Amino acid sequence: MCRADPVRLPRRTISTMTDDVHLVRRPRRLRTTPAMRNFVAETHLEPNQLVLPMFIADGIDSARDISAMPGVQQHTEESLLRTAEEALTAGVGSVDLFGVPTPESKDATGSQAWAVDGVLNRGLSALRREFGDDLIVMADTCLDEFTDHGHCGVLTEDRFGTTVIDNDATLPLYARMAVAQAEAGAHVVSPSGMMDGQIAVIRRALDDAGFQDVSILAYSAKYAGAFYGPFREAVGSSLQGDRKTYQQDPRNARESLMEVDLDIAEGADMVMVKPAMPHLDILRQVADISTVPVAAYQVSGEYSMITAAAQNGWIDREAAIMDSLTGIRRAGADIILTYWATEAAHLLRG
Ligand code: PBG
Repeated sequence: MCRADPVRLPRRTISTMTDDVHLVRRPRRLRTTPAMRNFVAETHLEPNQLVLPMFIADGIDSARDISAMPGVQQHTEESLLRTAEEALTAGVGSVDLFGVPTPESKDATGSQAWAVDGVLNRGLSALRREFGDDLIVMADTCLDEFTDHGHCGVLTEDRFGTTVIDNDATLPLYARMAVAQAEAGAHVVSPSGMMDGQIAVIRRALDDAGFQDVSILAYSAKYAGAFYGPFREAVGSSLQGDRKTYQQDPRNARESLMEVDLDIAEGADMVMVKPAMPHLDILRQVADISTVPVAAYQVSGEYSMITAAAQNGWIDREAAIMDSLTGIRRAGADIILTYWATEAAHLLRG
């Protein structure tokens, strides 16, 4: 029987126990002063890389707090413009608008999504009229806020009587919604419903309607999960159940790369990974292969966790905001959607 050789420990060339310490490499040298740390910093975040997600609600006459997201509000048109102005003044590059229709106006297909006078389209045109091309106006392109069942696509029954989301019947509705958003003045549409083929039909519909210059930010790698919890209140969601038949399974990484490849092939101008923090490894992998700019969405649950801990005095709010955004940027995001966009822009400008 042969026995393995005894494990040989590497010989330490430096003894820290003796007087003859001679460390040639001392990583701490480059951490000595703020100026030195700034000098060697690899990761830079600029306010114009930030996108502020915002909510415009129908049927309210003053801005309404969202209790699960302290500091974030559902807006009237007037408070929307005022808050967007603050973002622009702080240097934020873009706002991404979500619509909150009245419960009575929701229906099975989400038809308020493409109605010219639907709350989201009214908000988009108000933003574009007010800010022109100074602020990038981005639209959330998904039906879930507008459907009475709260799903991102239309429902059908399979032949066994089970209710399922009808991918292909949803696509033309996304196309209509995207064209209505472009007509309202959106510079960017951002399909977030995770239907297969959504980028291709939207690109085609925009081009056919003469909107060649309206770009598409694809929510390519969007994972199902608990971190969207506070957002449900933010948009008054009607959803029962979950979105696991269309959003990705957090146990999988490879399919994110396929989703990104498909979206770029279908015409996406930018791709996204979402939520950011639980999927920073995916963000890095996507950034390594993407031929278009990469965005990450720091979602409602990420926002609310830090906010709640800070309110309890358990965490330093501003430091935690910057730690989280720096991590997302370092992981590979060129663009970050964050409810702290305006505040972070102020912090970045010192
Ligand atoms: C759905 C959509 C969601 C978010 C953005 N778009 C909710 C979901 O997928 O369940 C969540 C954003 C957030 O949590 O901040 N169109």
